[in-house]
Amino acid sequence: MSNQPCHIAIIMDGNGRWAESKGENRTFGHERGAEVVRTITTYCANHSDIHRLTLYAFSTENWKRPKLEVEFLMKLLERYLKNEKITYLSGNIRFEPIGDLSIFSKSLRKVIDDIQNATAACTGLLQSLALNYGGRDEIVRAANALRDSGALTVESVGKALDCQHDVDLLIRTGGDHRLSNFLLWQAAYAELFFTNTLWPEFSVDELEAIIKKFKTVERRFGGLN
Ligand code: IPE
Ligand code: IPE
Ligand code: MG
Repeated sequence: MSNQPCHIAIIMDGNGRWAESKGENRTFGHERGAEVVRTITTYCANHSDIHRLTLYAFSTENWKRPKLEVEFLMKLLERYLKNEKITYLSGNIRFEPIGDLSIFSKSLRKVIDDIQNATAACTGLLQSLALNYGGRDEIVRAANALRDSGALTVESVGKALDCQHDVDLLIRTGGDHRLSNFLLWQAAYAELFFTNTLWPEFSVDELEAIIKKFKTVERRFGGLN
C-alpha cells in the first residue's frame, strides 16, 4: 500500500524574494502568497486522502522584521480571513489556528475567533494557519500547562500541544533546507521535501508531483520493512 498524505504541512517561504525579483515591494509577494494559500487549500479540500493542511504563516521570530512589513502582514491576515470565509464554508473546510494568539490585536483575534466558530461544524479538510507560532514556544507552553500533573509522557506532551497530529509530508518552498522552528515535535517522522520554487509560484501541479513521490517512499518509523 502507498503512503497517504493525511497531514501535509508547508513552510511557505520566498514571498519577499519573489516580489523583489520583479522589482516590487516585498508586500506584493505576501499578497500573491495569500492567493496561493487559497489555491492549495482548495486543492487539498478536494482530495479526501488529505485530512489536514498546516501552513506556516507567521513565526515567533517574524516579529524581528521591519515594523511596516509586520503591520502589513497583520492587516493581510485579517483581510484574508474575512474575505475567505466563503471559501472555507463552500469547501466544507474547518479552520483552526495554532500558535500563541494572545499577542495579537483584539480585532485580529476577533476575526480569527469568528472564522473558527463559523467553520466549527465543517467536516472536510482541517486547515490550520500557524500564527505567532514557534515549535519551541509550543512545547514550552505545553510543558507549563502540564507542570503540576506529575511525570510527563510522550502522549501527555503530545496531547497538550496546539497541533496534536503527526505530520506525514512537510514541504518547504523558497530553496532553504531548514525547519525554522516549525512543528518540531510533530515532524519527528515526516517526509521532508524542499523545492526552490518561491511560494507565490508554487502550484497544484508541483504539489501533485511531490505527493506522487511521497507515496513511493518507504516509511519505516525506526522498524524494518
Ligand atoms: C514567507 O516569505 C512569508 C513569511 C515569513 C511571512 P518571506 O517573507 O520569508 O520571503 P523571503 O524568504 O524573504 O523571500
Ligand atoms: C519561515 O520563514 C516562517 C514562515 C514561512 C512563516 P522565514 O523566512 O521566517 O525563515 P528563515 O528566517 O529564513 O529561517
Ligand atoms: Mg523567508
